[in-house]
Amino acid sequence: MPDVIESPKLLLNTLRGKKQTQTPVWLMRQAGRYLPEYRELRSQKGGFLELCYDPECAAEVTIQPIRRFGFDGAILFSDILIVPHAMGQDLWFEAGEGPRLAPRLVDAALTSLESAPARFEAIYATVRNVASQLEDKTTFMGFAGSPWTVATYMTHGQGSKDQAVTRRYAYQDEAAFAELIRAIIDHSVTYLLGQIDAGVDAIQLFDSWAGTLSPAQFEKWVIAPNAEIIARIKAVHPDLPIIGFPKGAGAKLVAYARETGADAIGLDETVDPFWAHDNLPADIPLQGNLDPLALIAGGEALENSVRHILQVFEDRPHIFNLGHGILPDTPIEHVEKLLTLVRQ
Ligand code: CP3
Repeated sequence: MPDVIESPKLLLNTLRGKKQTQTPVWLMRQAGRYLPEYRELRSQKGGFLELCYDPECAAEVTIQPIRRFGFDGAILFSDILIVPHAMGQDLWFEAGEGPRLAPRLVDAALTSLESAPARFEAIYATVRNVASQLEDKTTFMGFAGSPWTVATYMTHGQGSKDQAVTRRYAYQDEAAFAELIRAIIDHSVTYLLGQIDAGVDAIQLFDSWAGTLSPAQFEKWVIAPNAEIIARIKAVHPDLPIIGFPKGAGAKLVAYARETGADAIGLDETVDPFWAHDNLPADIPLQGNLDPLALIAGGEALENSVRHILQVFEDRPHIFNLGHGILPDTPIEHVEKLLTLVRQ
């Protein structure tokens, strides 16, 4: 007999450490530009942020990939940069380039920002909207960026390859940087508790730029802030699963898993599944970690990679996902093929 299944939600049960008879699957950035229905709604609304702040449209975009593919999880359509926006920075997206934030906190003091927490309200409305529409079997995930990753955008005012501006700032003015991290933690806890009250079943913390930090800085700016966020959420919602995704952490995943209190760990595509299986606690669910480029390539590369990942994680709770977000030029038929491979 398989484990008693308490909930019809395959993904939620797996996050609670219960191996299911099928491996649940969702994809990071599953709502987005590879879908024609997304591109159409986005062009009608005029832009990405306009979509995020329109609860009906954002709910529709959240549900689009569930309707088309039947993923086991829906992830709230929003962005990690809503938190800096609610902390009072200006936020816009430069066409073809990416996000811009002003004033940059390498030039301006944190105290010059005027907090605008009302910006969270539209996102909570999206959550209520989605929760009222999803089927029982679909797990609904909220998210926030982790403080380090969010701080890289807030300090530099844009994305970068190596986060050098922020790494230097954290060394040169550690007290000011620690204050920024503290403010991001506080806003993120408020934001995540708001998402939970509005109806999400689980949370993912995205630390996309955790990979460029030295071990000591990783302890300080990745592990400690994530541990605090998780502890503060668990104090209110002890049973709500939290997935930690410190992209690029490599061997530092061991300390991350031990010290943050995350219920499940997301693996990027550079992590060897065998290594993760051997070095991370046997009872902790792992999520990942197909290379998004193998999904674009399709064919044998896709089939072999999917089979390998499923095989290595056969005996532990595992959620199938990519190692990072799905890319805009991913063919839809390859996503369909992926689902067939995972579910057969
Ligand atoms: O996973 C999902 O489908 C949920 C929605 C989601 C988005 N961004 C939508 C989005 C999530 C969870 C994010 C997280 C996010 N945002 C991260 C962490 C994860 C990661 O990918 O590393 C980061 C670093 C951001 C910041 C951000 N947002 C950047 C750098 C960009 C521009 C780059 C790009 O891909 O265009 C965005 C824009 C963004 N966020 C888009 C989407 C669908 C594209 C917007 C568009 O042009 O339509």
